[in-house]
Amino acid sequence: MVVGAATSLEPEIRRVGKALSEGFPSHRGNPLKVLDDRAMDLAAQDAELRAALFRFVDVVPACRSLDDLAAHLTSFLGEVHAQPPSLRAAMRIGDTKAGRAALGAAGAAGVRRMAHRFIVGEDPQAALPTLRRLWRDGIAASVDLLGEATVTAEEADRYAARCAQALDTLAAAYARMDEQPLLERDASGPLPRANLSVKVSALTPLLRPEAPERGQRDAAPRLRALLRQAKQLDAHLHIDMESLDTREAVLELVLDLLAEAEFADGPSAGVVLQAYLRDSPQTLDTILEWADRTPRALPLVVRLVKGAYWDHEVVEARQHGWSVPVFERKGDCDANFEALTARLLEARPLVRVAIASHNLRSVAHAIARNRLLDGEPRDVEFQVLRGLGDDLGRALAASGLRVRSYCPVGDLVAGMAYLVRRLLENTANESFLADQAHGVPLEQLLAPPETST
Ligand code: FAD
Ligand code: 2OP
Repeated sequence: MVVGAATSLEPEIRRVGKALSEGFPSHRGNPLKVLDDRAMDLAAQDAELRAALFRFVDVVPACRSLDDLAAHLTSFLGEVHAQPPSLRAAMRIGDTKAGRAALGAAGAAGVRRMAHRFIVGEDPQAALPTLRRLWRDGIAASVDLLGEATVTAEEADRYAARCAQALDTLAAAYARMDEQPLLERDASGPLPRANLSVKVSALTPLLRPEAPERGQRDAAPRLRALLRQAKQLDAHLHIDMESLDTREAVLELVLDLLAEAEFADGPSAGVVLQAYLRDSPQTLDTILEWADRTPRALPLVVRLVKGAYWDHEVVEARQHGWSVPVFERKGDCDANFEALTARLLEARPLVRVAIASHNLRSVAHAIARNRLLDGEPRDVEFQVLRGLGDDLGRALAASGLRVRSYCPVGDLVAGMAYLVRRLLENTANESFLADQAHGVPLEQLLAPPETST
């Protein structure tokens, strides 16, 4: 820890944050605008309406006709008590056959438009033009194959086969792209160009908290085969983190596999640390202890996130009468994110560090902290989600930092859970992007997190 860091850190964070925000084209690109319209604005203000819209988003891919779509939309909206005038007008349109067709079409088009902001293609081949453009603009990618929580072995096999095919497609395409030195090397050595993010719950139908070993045993051969392929193709494999009930099983599985002798010299691989979990500092201890006793040619990449399952964790814990495992005050989560950022940056070169956030304060903190530690810019990576962090990603890349865009690939059905998580996050009471969209001044956005202690 740098002596006096706390006092010199804040001015540096403000300086970095302001400079970065100037790189944004006048906030016009605030991604909340992509969630466009009034519907999302209203959803952010009314919990019942929010629930009704999310239920609709969830059923869109399964609806077989416009009538069916309109029937679902009006039935969900009909349960909202305080209906704003625009909603009552929409409901009245659904009274006639022609009106229902129009309403169904408008609803489905709205959902598809939103989804296409986040999803870069139906398959990796279709995603290549976007990936090439990003690379040309100095931005790397991690392709995420949409799909999670499989229920049959056949589904898990299919997901594994899609991953294998994606690795081939990506490795071949990236091999033909021009050199981008910042994206290809850090102090620890070369960084693979092709990068795939996978979810363990898609690789086994047996991932259950009551019997974690069964899920691990079932997922292991599929994940091991992907690691072998990634090693052979010199690609990076990143294992996403999902809800808390699978965290231990996922982390143990990945660390055990990576400790196998055949993986000592590759592939490059990574895990995710979720700062919203109160016990995430202990999880980081586990990761760092593992890294310390497991010599590998390429350091494990740790992607630091806040966590995408916040609502789920809170509801699940309350339903069971458990203590809530996530921070319930946003400032506590943000402060923990900063503390973990500092620990990760100080732990290099034992691990490689990826800071994944759209929060200008969290990102500016990581940049400022890296500077105070005399770290080179290339020794920390910044990651954003496609469709949400595009402007921030471009501003970071323009200031000479390494950026990776997380690019989901797949169809709307597979992408529903992902889409709902993005909507939940961005219509939540406490979200950086929502604050920014609602005009909270930059000074306030860059202020230190307000903690409960
Ligand atoms: P902010 O607005 O600063 O933070 C929003 C987050 O704060 C919420 O998502 C929630 O985690 C937390 N929060 C909200 N309300 C409260 C509250 N009242 N009290 C405490 N905390 C609260 N997430 C995963 O779980 N697994 C992954 O593998 C994963 N991969 C990602 C990869 C990339 C490249 C990116 C950019 C994000 C990824 N995420 C992942 C999502 C991430 O966890 C966040 O949900 C998302 O980035 C929003 O956080 P933020 O820092 O951008 O925004
Ligand atoms: C999610 O799927 C980005 O992994 C994160 O929500």
